[in-house]
Amino acid sequence: MRRPLIAGNWKMNLDREAAVSLARGVGAAAGDGEVDVLVCPTFVHLDAVAQAVNDANVHVGSQDVYFEGNGAFTGETSTDMIKDVGCTYVILGHSERRNVIGESDELICKKVHAALAAGLLPILCVGELLEQREAGQTMDVVKSQIEGSLKGVDAVQMSKIVVAYEPVWAIGTGKTASPEQAQEVHADIRSLLARLYNQELADGVRILYGGSVKPANAADLMACGDIDGALVGGASLKADSFAGIIEAAASA
Ligand code: PGA
Repeated sequence: MRRPLIAGNWKMNLDREAAVSLARGVGAAAGDGEVDVLVCPTFVHLDAVAQAVNDANVHVGSQDVYFEGNGAFTGETSTDMIKDVGCTYVILGHSERRNVIGESDELICKKVHAALAAGLLPILCVGELLEQREAGQTMDVVKSQIEGSLKGVDAVQMSKIVVAYEPVWAIGTGKTASPEQAQEVHADIRSLLARLYNQELADGVRILYGGSVKPANAADLMACGDIDGALVGGASLKADSFAGIIEAAASA
């Protein structure tokens, strides 16, 4: 049985006070833990947010991390640093890091290994651009992102990884993939993991959907057999809309 995970990716939003207040609101909404709830604020708010959810059933994660342990890497943040301020998860290879910042599968793969070595749970994001979907290349793109980002990851390590399928054309656009479109890719990702590892492992890996998830569409998405939760951007910035998505996952 895969435990649902609802993750909020706050991106580069909120000031410290608003982040702490949102964290408290999410803590109140998280309930008794039928669903894993995660919030991912910007690095500078991790410490304050982790303290704000200390007594609640909420995990904290960062939106990225660097693969080196320490040293002369100006502007970067290490796995030990984010663990030290309370992170247990880390989002890696988000489409904004791939497409805006220019991260490659090779770099993301190094980050996946560093996160695993540090005992963090990586959320590996994959997803196609609109033109790639229109050209019928969705699964080719997703497959090459998964294979490229998971090079050298063994089955034991893979069991710690969460995959997030986020079609780039659905992120922040208000256009959600239909439950059928999402389910099709999720099932293909699970088959790919079964081929790369084994069926038992693939059946245990949580695959989240991301891209304009909101309370109004969450229940239909969560009802799909291979959708195990959501990675939520915009709708995670308000406690009540994020709470609606947590509820949808709890009753799925
Ligand atoms: P969105 O973002 O929910 O605002 O579309 C999702 C994401 O980027 O993880």
